[in-house]
Amino acid sequence: MTGRSASAASAEAIGAGRVAPDDEAGSPDWLGDGIGHIWLPYAQMQTAAMPLAVASTEGVRIRLSDGRELIDALASWWTACHGYNHPHIVGEIKRQAEIMPHVMFGGLAHEPALILARRLAAILPDGLERVFFSDSGSVAVEVALKMAVQFWINRGVAGRKKFIAFRHAYHGDTTGAMAVSDTEDGMHHLFKGTLPEHFLLEVPRTKSEIAALDDFIKGRRDEIAGLIIEPLVQAAGGFKFHRPDTLAAIHKICARHDVLFIADEVATGFGRTGTLFACEAAGITPDIMCLSKALTGGAIGLGATVATERVFDAFLSDDPECALMHGPSYMANPLAAAAANASLDLFEREPRLDQVLAIADHLQGALEPCRALAGVKDVRCFGAIGVVELDEMRGLDWLRDRFVGEGVWLRPFGNVVYTMPALVISDDELTRVTDAMVKIVAEWSRKFA
Ligand SMILES: Cc1ncc(COP(=O)(O)O)c(C=O)c1O
Repeated sequence: MTGRSASAASAEAIGAGRVAPDDEAGSPDWLGDGIGHIWLPYAQMQTAAMPLAVASTEGVRIRLSDGRELIDALASWWTACHGYNHPHIVGEIKRQAEIMPHVMFGGLAHEPALILARRLAAILPDGLERVFFSDSGSVAVEVALKMAVQFWINRGVAGRKKFIAFRHAYHGDTTGAMAVSDTEDGMHHLFKGTLPEHFLLEVPRTKSEIAALDDFIKGRRDEIAGLIIEPLVQAAGGFKFHRPDTLAAIHKICARHDVLFIADEVATGFGRTGTLFACEAAGITPDIMCLSKALTGGAIGLGATVATERVFDAFLSDDPECALMHGPSYMANPLAAAAANASLDLFEREPRLDQVLAIADHLQGALEPCRALAGVKDVRCFGAIGVVELDEMRGLDWLRDRFVGEGVWLRPFGNVVYTMPALVISDDELTRVTDAMVKIVAEWSRKFA
């Protein structure tokens, strides 16, 4: 089915909204045939724009079926840190696919996962030793929360089941992860009331706010299993940053009151903020760390929840009830573990952290002109993250279309226009991204502010 009939079918199915014109050149059959059976992520399906058909990817480029090419300024939701189709990662996945694409991890072990666990323990902050594999960032968070609650149960301490979570936090879309995200203003606020209730606080930034957090935790220590934070950068909840010394102070409070400190490095891990892990900048070792996204260099889903020996030891017992009862079917998938090992090779062989510094430098200077524009609230950068925050989002679809028109893949959301490119993006490509951001935010400012 092509042309007219394909698009007509999709128009109905996706909702009578902004779908591809009937005669759009290059719209492939599979798009029209399949779109009526797809439920898109984070999309109001009645009005959702037709997704762009992707034919292939390479480096930092997304090639569309109609022949256009976009520079990906988001590294596919921050996963593809080495760019797409890196030959080393692809080669290792292919090699592993010939040997064993998958095998269950219960009662069986395999080389890629065990090598990966050892390598992660070697590069993570000192003391993080035990890796529990899963298949996504949200599940890595679920596992962390479960570990923290059971840590206290196993130690015979009753009642410590709640978490300190933060405004603007985003930890994923599964139930437990939603419950420790910003349940007031975050994207999951509709579920407030059905989710387990935790303590939702502002990230403390001043001395007095830090003292208030200390008091809060001191007063409720017996109810609190742990505190969960995205270290240095709260990402999908609005790109709010805090300083390493703030992170260190929060960690110290948790240590003082023996509250487990969970670092969700799903977005920040693997160089994004300028150190391999954001916790490094604060010189801290969390009790539990969550990893995913760039763990495999963006090739395939994998999650990891990494615990200290102290946390792990609480699960050792003659009592089978003390075991961690968790085990996703695809945990430690060998293809994903092979991809992750290949990604770690690249971090060892290539100057990724220097590249982050260069990106950071570029973003700081290049996005600055946006600050003076009407309707722009803030411009901020941290490592390889550049954010233009608007007073209020208006014309979201217009903005998204304009970026595509400029040949750049950016997806503003909430009230932010942001980039988190592959760490290998070239100067020229990054210049195209930031030029497009400045140009289009300026257009937006004239049209909507
Ligand atoms: C900090 C953080 N934690 C968890 C998640 C959820 O990861 P996933 O989308 O792989 O479930 C995300 C996703 O954006 C994230 O940014």
